[in-house]
Amino acid sequence: MKAGEGHEVRTLADLEALSRAAADFFVSLSLSAAASEKRFSVALSGGSTPQRLFSLLASSPCRESINWSSTHFFWADERCVPKESPESNYNLVYSMLLSRLPVPGDNIHRIRGEDGPERAARGYEDLLRSLFGQQPFPVFDLIVLGAGADGHTASIFPDSEVVRERTRLAVPVYANAPKPARVTLTLPVLNNAAQVLFLASGRAKAQVLHEILEDGNPKRYPAGLVKPVHGRLTWLIDRDAARLLAQPTFPRGRS
Ligand code: 6PG
Repeated sequence: MKAGEGHEVRTLADLEALSRAAADFFVSLSLSAAASEKRFSVALSGGSTPQRLFSLLASSPCRESINWSSTHFFWADERCVPKESPESNYNLVYSMLLSRLPVPGDNIHRIRGEDGPERAARGYEDLLRSLFGQQPFPVFDLIVLGAGADGHTASIFPDSEVVRERTRLAVPVYANAPKPARVTLTLPVLNNAAQVLFLASGRAKAQVLHEILEDGNPKRYPAGLVKPVHGRLTWLIDRDAARLLAQPTFPRGRS
């Protein structure tokens, strides 16, 4: 189903098929970057949905297909907890992916949640400016996002003032979010990416996806406000999450 210029929604049979499609997607973008001898910058999210993707990327054949030395890892958001915490998005990605791959330590650019929300957000913003240059917003090659049943994405929650942030790259998040405090990339950064890939699985997401992708009011939901200005937006969703969509599509040979 086409959801607009540069926007695509693909429905897969289940989380396994969705994760395999996401892994193919990741490999293909990383190969394009390698073909032009460019660094491949990717920002990842936490949550349960991307975990199978992380395992696939760390296993054959993906692990041999990707040039890990030119792949740079960032995070879309983080909880303000120590990096060893089971709540840490860095810890999730490190344990399922990075610890199993030859990624140089200099390519891992985490949000230092243990520094507390203000310092961690400033530190991350400084890091992004130093790596991407002084242009107003970095251009990530790929940002992988999830969507909550309440329509949040990264750590941008409905009715949070973060939705209105226009200048900062990363901000602390206290209100309207579950504890602990968090740090999140802002909407201008998400919307400046070359490619945003949303992953959504399960019946609990069906209503909000219907409202975001079809005739509801997408702007009520932070996930509905993600529309890259110059880049592409792709939603990979499974059949359960797509059950309230009018025209779920099942690409041949994939579902
Ligand atoms: C996090 C996220 C968050 C997540 C959504 C979806 O760290 O929790 O970055 O935005 O992507 O809550 O989570 P699920 O994949 O668990 O549904």
